[in-house]
Amino acid sequence: MSADTPATTYGRYLLIDDLLSLQQPRSTGPEHDETLFIIIHQVYELWFKELLHEFDRVTQLLEADESHRSQHTLKRILTILKVMVSQLDILETMTPLEFLSFRERLDAASGFQSDQFRQIEFLLGVKSEHTMQRFSTGSRARAALERRYHAPTLWDAFLHYLSRERYDVPAAHLARDVIAPVEPSPEIQQILVDVYRRDPKNAELCERLVDLDEGIQEWRYRHVKMVERTIGTRRGTGGSSGAEYLRETVGRPLFPDLWVIRGQL
Ligand code: HEM
Repeated sequence: MSADTPATTYGRYLLIDDLLSLQQPRSTGPEHDETLFIIIHQVYELWFKELLHEFDRVTQLLEADESHRSQHTLKRILTILKVMVSQLDILETMTPLEFLSFRERLDAASGFQSDQFRQIEFLLGVKSEHTMQRFSTGSRARAALERRYHAPTLWDAFLHYLSRERYDVPAAHLARDVIAPVEPSPEIQQILVDVYRRDPKNAELCERLVDLDEGIQEWRYRHVKMVERTIGTRRGTGGSSGAEYLRETVGRPLFPDLWVIRGQL
């Protein structure tokens, strides 16, 4: 360390002064609960960032046929997801009236506009051009979403991996349009049944993908319940019908084949 370079400290390394200056309530007072509301959303955005970082790693590891290490990373993702779901408990300590005390200051702001959440959806195969176009051209968010929109999904990486593991994945699936939603396929289901019956290593990997699918659905379910108890049937600040819209997103599997085969094993 040279004489004019300050020593690394906790505060300098983590940019704590910057971090602590980022919570800026809009309500006058400000209303007590707005601090929690801001912090919890910022924490979620940080977790989204970390999840994207880890998902990119899972894809790279699958591409390198490193199944064991990809499962290890998936395990980390699943652990983060559990923490993310349980964090909703904290927000549920906020009563409807406490939320209403500052809600009007949010204008149109809503998690609906989280580009990182949409990036996660895109990489998991839930892609929408309309959603992407809501982000302004040239912005960081739009560039990130465009990249993920055109990139293969995690399911695509998995099918290619299975093919290299000598499973007879039909060429049409390997060359599928990566923008299109993942549809159930009897041919893939047959392969997966085979994996479960004969191939414990890859059956484990399938189980982690089911955990992931369930974990995302769990977050959606808990989020909509929190929304129902906090704003009831009111419309969302993001402009949707609110809980009614969110209920439609719950229970849709990311990897339908992995669910269908449960009845065939
Ligand atoms: C009091 C707390 C909350 C309420 C009342 C609430 C309400 C809503 C509503 C009504 C929507 C539907 C879109 C719209 O705004 O019209 C929505 C979407 C969303 N919210 Fe929340 N939310 C809350 C907390 C959170 C938190 C802490 C997060 C974490 C980042 C979050 C993330 C999201 C996401 C990602 C969506 C889009 C979901 C989708 O389109 O499938 N929300 N929220």
